[in-house]
Order: sequence, then C-alpha cells, then structure tokens
Amino acid sequence: MRAWKERCSSAPGNKVNQTTPSTSSLNYAQAEYERSRQPGYAYIPGDLALGAQRVLEIGCLGAHGLISLREQHDRRAWWLGVELSSQWCDEARKLIARHGQAHPNGHLLVVQADGTQLPCRAAQFDLIICKLVLPYADNRGLLAEMARALSPSGKAILQIHVPRYYILLVLDGVRNLSKWSVYGIRCLLNYWIFCLIGRQVRFQKVTDMPITRARLMTLLQEVGLSLVAVQPHKTLPTFVLAKSDHGE
Ligand SMILES: C[S@@+](CC[C@H](N)C(=O)[O-])C[C@H]1O[C@@H](n2cnc3c(N)ncnc32)[C@H](O)[C@@H]1O
Repeated sequence: MRAWKERCSSAPGNKVNQTTPSTSSLNYAQAEYERSRQPGYAYIPGDLALGAQRVLEIGCLGAHGLISLREQHDRRAWWLGVELSSQWCDEARKLIARHGQAHPNGHLLVVQADGTQLPCRAAQFDLIICKLVLPYADNRGLLAEMARALSPSGKAILQIHVPRYYILLVLDGVRNLSKWSVYGIRCLLNYWIFCLIGRQVRFQKVTDMPITRARLMTLLQEVGLSLVAVQPHKTLPTFVLAKSDHGE
C-alpha cells in the first residue's frame, strides 16, 4: 500500500504531485478527496458525470474520487468502486463512512475485485472511470471488461501512463538519487519485453508497464471501444471512450 502513496506523490507529471505525503493511507485518501474539491481541479474531465445513474470506478484506491464526484453530482445514482487491494478497500470504506455512507446522491459501495473480472452483468454502467490502473493490469483484459460493463450509450474515462512517464521517473530518480529510477527502468524493461514478444509478462516485483497511444487504439478497436475525446497530457493523457457503434 505504501508504494502507491509514494509513487503517487513522487512521480513526475503525476496529478497528485502537490499532495503532501501523510502518515496514514486514510489521511492520504482524505487529502486527495480535499484536493479533488478545490476550485479548478476535476477528478474527471468536464461534466461527464452529469446525468449518470450508474457509476463504476475501477481501481478506486481510497474512493476519494467517487466520494467527491458523488457530492458534486446532479442526482441520485448508484456508485460502485472496484479495488484489487484489500487494504485500500478497508481505507476506502473508512473514508466513505467518514463522509456518509448514505448520501442524498446515493449509496457508495467498494468491493474487492480484479478489474479484469468485474463482478457485474454486462452493460450495467453509464459511466466507468479507470484512472492510472492500466499499467498494473492485463491491458486487454481490463479494457475488454470496461467494454462489457459499459452501457450502449455510456461513457468510459481512461487515464493512462505513456512511456514518457517512466522515462521522466528514471531521469528524476537519477537526479534525486531515488529508488524510483530503478523502478522506472524495470517498467520500461517490461515494456520493451512486451514490444519484443507481443505479450505482457507478469514479473513478481514489477508488473507495471506503460502503453503507447497507438497500442491503446489497437486494443480499443479489438474490444469494441472507440475514442470520443482526448485530454492531452505529456505523461498521463485521459481518453473519453464509448462503445464502438455509439462512438463518434
Ligand atoms: C495509481 S492508483 C490510482 C488510484 C485512483 N484511480 C486515482 O486516480 O487516484 C492505482 C489503483 O489501481 C488498483 N489496481 C491495480 N490493479 C488493479 C486491478 N487489476 N483491478 C482493480 N484495481 C487495480 C491499485 O490497487 C490502486 O489502488
């Protein structure tokens, strides 16, 4: 669990760069929640959550994003967070309890599950959020599950790490003599191995790898998702997606 916090707060170009690392994960999630409510900050781009009645976040960490989205929402909705780490599920439940399990805009539930095997029926959600999770999961499996769970008129928001993210992590790490340089090198190695053999290898210590926009487009086509809009970023771009036959 500590690794997420450290990486989130030290990685170059990361959206949580300005967060002061705190002593506990709950404090970290609370700080992220507070940051997401600051003027000018948007957990997801624009007004994409407006009107959504069934919202799923894959890899919700401490549920800070879902809690703040629920508060800013325009109606009662059904909110579900799926998180692989049982520790982060515990932290998320504590944060939800702190901010009100029952809320006028609907009940928020976090379940422990793998985003590549979502515990839901097909076409259940009209908004799916998946931010900064793809590098840690089987890329095709996760995108295929997003496509399966998305309703025909729904939108999915996907934020990814492009290779430049890890290149900057290495350079930053070398400059500051930080262990993240080694970590970044491992992630880039994973990516190069992937380029050589064409499949994701899951090493025990470091499974993460970046994804290029070109590779993402290929996978989206394969799983039946299409690109609606892009929010560019030099290391962590965000994509708005729809089912292929309903995309633009
Ligand atoms: C970098 S954090 C991003 C958290 C949050 N989405 C945000 O943007 O603040 C990645 C999260 O994804 C979770 N995760 C990694 N692999 C996952 C998987 N296969 N299924 C569900 N969650 C996963 C991690 O446990 C972690 O909480």
